[in-house]
Amino acid sequence: MTKLLLDVDTGIDDSIALLYLLGSPEAEILGISCTAGNVSARQVAINNLAWLELCGAGPIEVCLGSEIPLIQPLKTSPETHGPQGIGWAELPAPSREISARHAVNLWSEVARRQPGEVVGLVTGPLTNLALAVRTDPELPRLLRRLVVMGGSFDHPGNTTPTAEWNIAVDPDAAKIVFDAFSGLPADQQPIICGLNITETIALAPAQLARLAEAAGSTPVETPSPDEPVGARSAASNPLVRHVVDAMRFYFEFHRDWNWGWFAHLHDPFAAAVALDPDWAELRPATVDVELAGALTRGTTIADWGGKWGREPNAWVAIRTDPERFFDQLIDRIGGLARRLPGATTETAD
Ligand code: BDR
Ligand code: CA
Repeated sequence: MTKLLLDVDTGIDDSIALLYLLGSPEAEILGISCTAGNVSARQVAINNLAWLELCGAGPIEVCLGSEIPLIQPLKTSPETHGPQGIGWAELPAPSREISARHAVNLWSEVARRQPGEVVGLVTGPLTNLALAVRTDPELPRLLRRLVVMGGSFDHPGNTTPTAEWNIAVDPDAAKIVFDAFSGLPADQQPIICGLNITETIALAPAQLARLAEAAGSTPVETPSPDEPVGARSAASNPLVRHVVDAMRFYFEFHRDWNWGWFAHLHDPFAAAVALDPDWAELRPATVDVELAGALTRGTTIADWGGKWGREPNAWVAIRTDPERFFDQLIDRIGGLARRLPGATTETAD
C-alpha cells in the first residue's frame, strides 16, 4: 500500500487524479489539504468532499489551508476549469463538513504519526506545504517522498510564456519547498512532473468512450467538437456522467487555445508517479524558481549539469508511456464507476 497525503487545487484534472487514486487498490489516502489555485480553497474542499461522497469513499479528512498565496494576490482559473473548478459537472452538495484541522497541521501531524511512510502528492500551488515546512522544518525528512505536479523544464509555460500554473500562482512558496527539500538522500528527493511530461498525457474523446465501456455505462458517448458548448452527458453511470461533463469543459478550453479537441491530464500522471515512480524516467537536477524576473517570475529552472555548483535536489520526470498510463487510468476509474452503488440502474437527471 502507498499512504498518500494529497495537496490539491481541485480542478478538473485534480478531480480525475482523485478518482484514479480512489480506484487504485494500492492507494491509501490519509488526508487532503486544500490550496487556493484553480478555484478558492473553500471551493476546492467542497469539490473534494463531493467527489469522495459520490464515490462512497468513506470519511477521508479534507482540510482547508491558506486561502491566498504567501505574498502575491490569488489568481484563479475559471476559464480553464469552470466556475466551480469541475467544468460542466454539477455534483450533489456534500453532506460532510470540512475538517476543523488546518491543512498545515494535517501535513505535519500525518507525517509525524507515520515517519518515513507517507508520500506527499501536490497537484496545486505549494502554499500549504511551504507553510508546513516553515512550521515544521523536519517535515521533508519525515516523508517517504514528495511528488509535485508543477513547473516546466526546457519547455514553455502555460501561464506565462515560461511559467507553469501551480508555480506561477505562488512562486515564493515553490521556492521555499524546493529549498526545504534540498540536501535529502537521493531516494527521498522530490519527483517533479512538469509540463514537459504532463503535456504528453493528452486525453482524447475516444478514451472517454472506453471509460464508459469499462464502467458498463450507456450510451457510450464520444464528445464531439460539433456539439454545442456545454452539452451535457446522458451517461447512465453517475460517475461517468460527471467525468464526461467535466472533461467536455476541459476539451473546450484546450480547443479555444488552438491546441485541439483533447485535454492534458497533468495531475493524474503525477498521481500515478506517486504510486509508482517507475511510471517516469527520472533525471536528477538542481531545481529552482525565478522570483525576481520581470518577465520570468515563477519560471522553474533545472540545472542539469551542476553549473550553479549545487547538488541535485530533485528528480525531474522526463519520459513516460502515455498509452500504458491511459490503459491503467481507464481501467481504474472504470472499475470505480462500475462498483458505485446503483451504478447500472441510475439514469441521467
Ligand atoms: C496544473 O495547473 C492546474 O490548472 C492543473 O490542475 C494542474 O495542476 C497544470 O499546469
Ligand atoms: Ca491542479
